[in-house]
Amino acid sequence: MEGSKVDPELVEQLRKLQAKYDAMGQDLSSYLDGLLYSDYLTYWDYIHLDTLLSLQNPKTQFPDEKVFIMYHQITELYFQLMLHELKQITEKENLDEKFFMDRLDRIVRYFRHLENSFDIMVKGMEREQFLKFRMALLPASGFQSAQYRLIEIHATDMINLVNINERATVQTDDIGRLLEKLYWRSGATELASGKKTLTLQQFEQKYMPGFYEAGTKLKDRNLRQLFIKHFASSPRRDEIVSKLRELDTLSNVLWPLAHLRSAGHYLHKDPEDIKATGGTNWQKYLPPRFRRIIFFPELWSEKEKEEWGKAAFVHETDY
Ligand code: HEM
Repeated sequence: MEGSKVDPELVEQLRKLQAKYDAMGQDLSSYLDGLLYSDYLTYWDYIHLDTLLSLQNPKTQFPDEKVFIMYHQITELYFQLMLHELKQITEKENLDEKFFMDRLDRIVRYFRHLENSFDIMVKGMEREQFLKFRMALLPASGFQSAQYRLIEIHATDMINLVNINERATVQTDDIGRLLEKLYWRSGATELASGKKTLTLQQFEQKYMPGFYEAGTKLKDRNLRQLFIKHFASSPRRDEIVSKLRELDTLSNVLWPLAHLRSAGHYLHKDPEDIKATGGTNWQKYLPPRFRRIIFFPELWSEKEKEEWGKAAFVHETDY
């Protein structure tokens, strides 16, 4: 533009850009041409909105199936946010308290949202519709959420995820052998025969190698291990302990109870009815007080561990 002055700040920016591109042996002028011809970014392209809104595809004509699909998708996105934070913590070199606490705080916030929003499932669908459309979804189940399992593997040592009956007596730290005894491998079994359901078999087939890999990688770097190694005697110990306890409670009592309320509300409660419909052992498997999964056992008293999940359960009226 003839006569118009070029802002000196712009010249300075160009100089910096030139240095940046020179360092990589790139021609700045060609990149500036690219900038000249490219479109402005839009909101809908940036967040891939069209793709996102094309992913809700019910298998039946029942309108409430959309609620079911979308709330599962929302939950998986929150799970991904949690894993994003967990990966940042577990992969960080020179981990300090602030970094650890800030990310832990985010994870706890995500879990609180999930716990608080579960009523979308518990109250937000007509039971008659649910009982019909779920038949078109067999044998798929939220049980097959691999992200949920990965959150557990990032949070604690594999021994703390072993079936409660064997946890105290298992004598190995071999990840492969511990994986065989994980608590959830006795969930999703047929109530009548005790056999693994197709739901469980397919899940194991697809994801066990990935869980083995993650378990091996995180053996010395999961949240529990990092806390013990770096922060067990830190000046901010109390604050960190309180946050870890909140995560344990949300993850292993409050979210599972919110979820259990859904199962209780929609599915048969009488074990004989469950058997008759070819149902699973969910009544024995899902309640936190039976499985007693605790990510950070040393942060709870023996009494608290023994009574795990019981206090919260007393307040459950609709299950
Ligand atoms: C009406 C709503 C729901 C019902 C009736 C329900 C029912 C069940 C049942 C019966 C199980 C035990 C496994 C089985 O027997 O198949 C289960 C497991 C599971 N579901 Fe759901 N579910 C519901 C919503 C959800 C949602 C929204 C999610 C979010 C992803 C979810 C995630 C899970 C997970 C992660 C497990 C495994 C839990 C564990 O091992 O502790 N469920 N569900």
